[in-house]
Amino acid sequence: MKRDIDLLLESAAQVVTVDPARMRSGGEDEEARAVGAISGGAVAIDRGRILDVGRTDRLRDLYRAGRTIDASGRVVTPGLIDPHTHLVFGGQRHLEFGLRMKGADYQEILASGGGIHSTVAATRKTPVDELVDGAAKRLEKMLEFGVTTVEVKSGYGLDVETELKILETVRCLAERCPQRLVPTYLGAHVIPKEFADRRQAYVDLMIGEMIPKIAREQLAVACDVFLDNGAYTRDETEAILTAAVAAGLRPKVHAGQFSDQGGPELIAGLNGLSADHLEQISEAGIEAMAQAGVVANLLPGAAYSLRDHFPDGRRLIDRGVDVAVATDDNPGSSRTENLPLMASMAVTRMGLTCAEGMKAVTTNAAKALDLAGEIGAIIPGMAADLAVFDIPDFRALFYHFGMNHTAMVIAKGTIAIEEERR
Ligand code: NIG
Ligand code: FE
Repeated sequence: MKRDIDLLLESAAQVVTVDPARMRSGGEDEEARAVGAISGGAVAIDRGRILDVGRTDRLRDLYRAGRTIDASGRVVTPGLIDPHTHLVFGGQRHLEFGLRMKGADYQEILASGGGIHSTVAATRKTPVDELVDGAAKRLEKMLEFGVTTVEVKSGYGLDVETELKILETVRCLAERCPQRLVPTYLGAHVIPKEFADRRQAYVDLMIGEMIPKIAREQLAVACDVFLDNGAYTRDETEAILTAAVAAGLRPKVHAGQFSDQGGPELIAGLNGLSADHLEQISEAGIEAMAQAGVVANLLPGAAYSLRDHFPDGRRLIDRGVDVAVATDDNPGSSRTENLPLMASMAVTRMGLTCAEGMKAVTTNAAKALDLAGEIGAIIPGMAADLAVFDIPDFRALFYHFGMNHTAMVIAKGTIAIEEERR
């Protein structure tokens, strides 16, 4: 007797499981094995979970599906995971981009009251429903690229009211969009203008009022700080993240974008989730991250858009650090929803192999969000978040770059995008 199930995806050119248990066997070549690829694979889905994965003939014998989907000539992967975005903001900064492309400097623009400050001013003025609509559009574009989980930071409010408004926007989006959203509090993005001469008072406001309130109302699961010149110092970062940990939020940090100030060592000492950016990092920082299992979230879009050098992903991986890749989607330094393109840049510009590029937007991104075991791999028991790409091999996701190859997206067991076969 066959078991009744909701959905069977079958006959895929490859099912890229990213399951460590499958990385020693199967697959046609060494790199396909490194992502646990199954040629001619199938995935059985029932009640929002992955029930089984393997060769199509075996799964066909075992299950009778309410719906069977022919994935021949296509690649099935875990739904992609974007572990670092600033999706909720008001206004736009294309004029600033134009100025930067004519030679203006990102940090100088920020220091003179523009940049992040201009988005803060616009976000404070934007009503919640407009913030929701703007971010919903970005999430829809992300879904079109196969992204089923998105981390979303606050950080363009920098006052109690607007930081809460942003996190409530995320909560509202989580109810209406198909993806899983992971909210992070980034009240410590920059020092708000009105606190320019009394920065400690703003740090105290975050520690005394904002962090406890946000943790109590479960509006965020993590806390981030921008540690760099023109933003927060190492000591301020430590104080803010220590308070966040005490309130039950997981710490993470924007570190080394412009200068190395010991963020990786600090976050490792706090048992943090990730250190992000890392254009600048010391050997000691890398060692600390590797020892503590802190994920490096690399952000190729920021290096690209700021005409900065790309962080050295190869060096991190060779020292034992897990590397994830994110869009960093934000109005200033990285305005993109295209996560596969970011992974392609990580492969071509940061020294990752294609297998490492795939892990960077699946298993390692899940680890960066403390969701390993739930998402990021195609393993029985995990959430049925899947992407189907119209490519013959997973490497084509990075090789045939800048394009949208998505044919189908399944989020929490439900078909969220379905393109007709041509
Ligand atoms: O990750 N580095 C700090 N924050 C963002 C940029 C924010 C902005 O320019 O609006 C980043 O690059
Ligand atoms: Fe960022």
